[in-house]
Amino acid sequence: MADNNFDVVFVGGGPGGYIGAIRAAQLGLKTACIDKRGAFGGTCLNVGCIPSKALLKSSEYFHLAQHGLSDHGFSVGEVKLDLPKMMARKDKVVGDTVKGIDFLFKKNKVTPFKGAATITGPNTVKVVLNDGGEEVLTAKNIIIATGSDVVALPGLTIDEQVIVSSTGALALGAVPKHLVVIGGGVIGLELGSVWQRLGAKVTVVEFLDRLIPGMDGEIAKNVQRVLAKQGMDFKLGKKVVKGEKGKAGVTLTLEPAAGGAAETLDADVVLVAIGRRPYTDNLGLDKVGVALDPKGRVVVDHHYKSSVPSIFAIGDVITGPMLAHKAEEEGVAIAELLAGQAGHVNYDVIPSVIYTSPEVASVGKTEEELKAAGIDYKVGKVPFSVNARARANGDIEGFVKILTDARTDKVLGCHIIHADAGTLIAEAALAMEFGASAEDIARTCHAHPTVSEVIKEAGLAANGRTLNM
Ligand code: FAD
Ligand code: NAI
Repeated sequence: MADNNFDVVFVGGGPGGYIGAIRAAQLGLKTACIDKRGAFGGTCLNVGCIPSKALLKSSEYFHLAQHGLSDHGFSVGEVKLDLPKMMARKDKVVGDTVKGIDFLFKKNKVTPFKGAATITGPNTVKVVLNDGGEEVLTAKNIIIATGSDVVALPGLTIDEQVIVSSTGALALGAVPKHLVVIGGGVIGLELGSVWQRLGAKVTVVEFLDRLIPGMDGEIAKNVQRVLAKQGMDFKLGKKVVKGEKGKAGVTLTLEPAAGGAAETLDADVVLVAIGRRPYTDNLGLDKVGVALDPKGRVVVDHHYKSSVPSIFAIGDVITGPMLAHKAEEEGVAIAELLAGQAGHVNYDVIPSVIYTSPEVASVGKTEEELKAAGIDYKVGKVPFSVNARARANGDIEGFVKILTDARTDKVLGCHIIHADAGTLIAEAALAMEFGASAEDIARTCHAHPTVSEVIKEAGLAANGRTLNM
């Protein structure tokens, strides 16, 4: 008989649950991690971050081979798309990475369970195993790390063929002629970019009068400008009120969000990407008394404790940005707290990246947030066109914008549009984590020629001086 008495059981094996389980086991806690998907890694690894980035890379190469090489002085013959091969590569990237988690669980002595979990009491979890049978686990502490699921649009039933969520959009069997994306957020822009580069006409319908709500307004405007230049169409301030499936696709009826005359839009494929909801279906939380907020998120205190003292929650299922690295940090923090250490997440410094081309990355406050808070701030803004390496690479699109406290020069936020924005933002995050000033960044020696020199220049610009512009 297996010993099913654990110190801690993580329900959900996504970035929150699997990283938390590894850290808990490293700290000497007897740990189990349960996932019903049949593969660990959660949304992020199986149908989110990683497959989308695999397709973004492949489609970027396809586009580059077709349109981006002649400037460099050579031409290629006809570039043909082998979509099944591209998809197979994506699946292999996911499969190999899933195996990596199985290895890490073995290495760190985390006991895995593949099956659907129900929390049956403050210290008990029932697992209906995917391979048949049931296990009952007891645990001093249970961590809910069940993540999130797609928000559906009433009247548009997702079939993952013609009306798809991000999951279907990662596995289309053919390039649609016209892809209509409902929702101008992160998923819409990333997956819209994938299919546009592979040859689809892409129209994004967004309810608000801007893209990516919450992102710095100047950055969002520039993202729209750049993507429009690439051929993406935007219908802002519009809501979809009806969708009718026909032989050749879907006819959508759109109305201005503020009211007015309707219009129709025909699509071969419709991607519904209007946000994600916390996922606690069939988990038994009502019976065990775990409180949810009106948006369905598990209510937790600063130490991730729910309304039941032995049950905690982390990741997409609680408040905060729905990001893999945020879930991971919370997984580490809860493991350390349960082991008697001082686990902590700094929510002021959580970067976010949109992996379009160019990429868009942010950390800390936006200009709108600083204005609303009445904080006197300075802006150091430098375009990549002044940077020699960006010119050599042919990647001059975009800029760095550093926002600092006008009195102390402390970095309060950083926003970047550039081909390498996702990597570059780590420097700003590190600077903010250490409480650095713009002057600190400006006085840090940056290697030449690298695009990171633009961050240094933006540090200078925040103090009213520059060297390269
Ligand atoms: P999840 O990863 O959702 O994992 C929860 C797991 O719990 C799931 O595997 C589920 O099967 C399991 N589960 C649920 N209920 C039960 C139950 N009762 N019993 C057993 N198991 C259960 N974030 C980024 O930071 N960067 C990106 O580039 C990025 N790209 C994304 C692209 C797409 C298309 C999508 C959809 C999301 C993307 N995200 C990205 C968001 C990211 O995937 C999530 O923020 C992250 O996965 C949340 O981690 P989590 O551990 O909280 O939950
Ligand atoms: P989102 O919240 O980023 O964007 C949804 C968009 O849909 C918003 O702009 C919203 O105004 C709009 N919208 C809502 N209802 C609408 C309607 N009825 N009609 C038209 N537009 C409507 O959500 P998205 O893109 O679905 O992504 C979900 C989550 O996944 C995000 O919270 C994000 O954090 C995460 N994610 C992160 C990625 C990354 O970090 N690179 C990549 C993909 C997803």
